[in-house]
Amino acid sequence: MSENPLAPPRLRFPTDASALTARIWPASATRTDDGELAVGGITASDLARQFGTPLYVVDERDVQARAVRVRTAFSDAFRRIGTRAHVYYAGKAFLTTQVAAWMAAADLRVDVCTGGELAVALAGGVDPGMLGFHGNDKSDAEIARAVEVGVGTIVLDSHEEVQRVARAAAEAGVVQRVRIRINSGVHASTHEYLATAREDQKFGIPLTEAEEAAAAVRAEPSLAFVGLHSHIGSQIFDESGFREAARRLMDVHAALVATGPVPELNLGGGWGIDYTEADSAFAPEDVAEALAAIVAEACAERGIPVPEIAVEPGRYIVGPAGITLYSIGTIKPVTLELDVPASDGAGPVLATEGDALPADEPTSHAATRTYVSVDGGMSDNARPALYGADYTARLARSSDAPAVLSRVVGKHCESGDVVVQDEYLPGDVHRGDLLAVAATGAYCWSLASNYNHVGRPPVVAVADGTARILVRGESIDDLLARDTGVVPATGPGR
Ligand SMILES: Cc1ncc(COP(=O)(O)O)c(C=O)c1O
Repeated sequence: MSENPLAPPRLRFPTDASALTARIWPASATRTDDGELAVGGITASDLARQFGTPLYVVDERDVQARAVRVRTAFSDAFRRIGTRAHVYYAGKAFLTTQVAAWMAAADLRVDVCTGGELAVALAGGVDPGMLGFHGNDKSDAEIARAVEVGVGTIVLDSHEEVQRVARAAAEAGVVQRVRIRINSGVHASTHEYLATAREDQKFGIPLTEAEEAAAAVRAEPSLAFVGLHSHIGSQIFDESGFREAARRLMDVHAALVATGPVPELNLGGGWGIDYTEADSAFAPEDVAEALAAIVAEACAERGIPVPEIAVEPGRYIVGPAGITLYSIGTIKPVTLELDVPASDGAGPVLATEGDALPADEPTSHAATRTYVSVDGGMSDNARPALYGADYTARLARSSDAPAVLSRVVGKHCESGDVVVQDEYLPGDVHRGDLLAVAATGAYCWSLASNYNHVGRPPVVAVADGTARILVRGESIDDLLARDTGVVPATGPGR
């Protein structure tokens, strides 16, 4: 067995198709003496027995350690330039009441972007003053609720929100702290749907209109201007985008300092994580150092005080700490005829009907891709369908069987229902095997749906050999509970 010509150039034929690369898997992920995958001291088969599959599994200690690491990295780097840094956890990545509480315990603030996320953070016991409230289309009810509970800062996303938030604060008789989200126009290199600061999109106020927006905020007695905010996108590996956004923001920040106080600057989140061997995430210490250097230099050049800094990572904190466990069902080898062997690294060319092959040339080569179906899919992980996201998968048991190129697919009625587009799995993979997909801690549970009336899986936290449910899974009764036309059961089979 060897390299399969259908494999993309990034995917190497593995020397060990059971190996767990540390930077892709949760910190506690390991193989037991029997070769079985265990996380938080519990084997995959134990977890599947207790909670069924599909199952989201979160390494609680890893999440907490990553949160503390980011906070420490930023506090240290910005202390060195004479200021403070505040880390907001971006709840959109994965928010439950207990996750919110873990963040508060790690001394992080929490960023929410809907009334629902706000309710979860509050229900988790987070001090409202430690919350940031985002959103490009906040309703009046959401604004009123945020003001009423005393949310620390509201991030204004448009000119019209200045008056809407001012009115709500005036009615509540409070002065609301606000930031202004700026679209810096930086073209971060990431998937188009993950880039949030290109000119032609819905978030923020253009850089050129920042001074006008700040003047409007300062004119409202019920608002206190905290500073600017920028978030250029998500799953970004190229540091230059962050540097450029920080530089652009510092220009406007300095202009605003000339006309009044601007105590803070929020530089957003978006740091990429390793989903596959081909990714290479930067360390939070490096991001913190780089941003601190830019801020310090920009302030020195302009002779202005160094502001307090805020950042808002989500994926970095929870992504690598989560996995999803599935049970394997149908397995289907699909053999394809290739015109040209993929020797140039550009991938194979598939033969299509009517293509004439040169007479004396070797005709076609065949290659097989093994379709491995699992008992979940795009309902528990929408990212491959949404962004073409890549993942790494391993069988829970280890195996020495020669690896076969596989595509892990879900059970939904869409051919785009792919969980892992390309992966080498041991060739003895069979129905009933447990499969683990790595780095599913961020934007999987939070983007989950009930497509095909599949219930969303439970989420369990594992630590020190125990597992506890953070969110229970949805049953068929849950799925029917909101449907008003249910006919009462009348007999057998109903
Ligand atoms: C405003 C804002 N802040 C923070 C984040 C978190 O991004 P990430 O999870 O990539 O760090 C997002 C996500 O897109 C966002 O929209």
